[in-house]
Amino acid sequence: MKKVLGKILISLFVVGTLTALVASDTFIFQTAKVKIDNKEGSLYIGTPVKVLKSVDEKNVLVEFSGMAFGDKLYTGKTQSLLMATKTEGSFGDKEQIVKVQAIIEKGYLSEVPEEIWEEHEEFFYEMCTQCHGAYKPQSHTMLEWDAILQTMSGFAQLYEDETEYLSRFLKANSSNGFYPEQK
Ligand code: HEC
Repeated sequence: MKKVLGKILISLFVVGTLTALVASDTFIFQTAKVKIDNKEGSLYIGTPVKVLKSVDEKNVLVEFSGMAFGDKLYTGKTQSLLMATKTEGSFGDKEQIVKVQAIIEKGYLSEVPEEIWEEHEEFFYEMCTQCHGAYKPQSHTMLEWDAILQTMSGFAQLYEDETEYLSRFLKANSSNGFYPEQK
């Protein structure tokens, strides 16, 4: 029994190390509280980050870039898709592209975008295929989804928070969202 346990521990250790070394494209699995410049901040679900190094057993240092709008960081000018927020200070001059580092618990990272959006996707199919087939998220841009949802959330009788929830899923997976090259 002891021997088996030893083997399991060793293979866990090896897998853990490998992922830490190889992972350059990792994603935020769930919106998480993080440390940015030693201050509290948040990294939002779906955001791509690069793992730079381990900080301690639980935490890693990650890097990501986006467009600064005061204490918020977006993917671009339209401010459609939020990546990160900070409780103190600003990310940089307005509309400047900046690189940011944050310390985050490893458990909030995933390498598989599909895994991150599983529940969102289920909700999407449930709500949005009653009248027509499912339109793939990557068939539209973020701004198109904003416009489409204005009508369709009414058609699907969604509450405001449900529309928000769907909107983030559709925009993150849209043709100009977080994973354009993977679809
Ligand atoms: C009650 C029926 C109904 C529901 C529910 C519904 N739709 Fe639609 N949808 C329509 C109809 C009718 C059209 C075509 C007419 C139009 O464009 O207004 C349409 C068109 C669309 C289009 C094509 C628009 C374009 O310009 O290409 C998209 C994309 C879409 N729906 C997405 C969604 C999403 C996302 C949801 C869930 C939030 C949803 N629909 C829920 C009835 C519905």
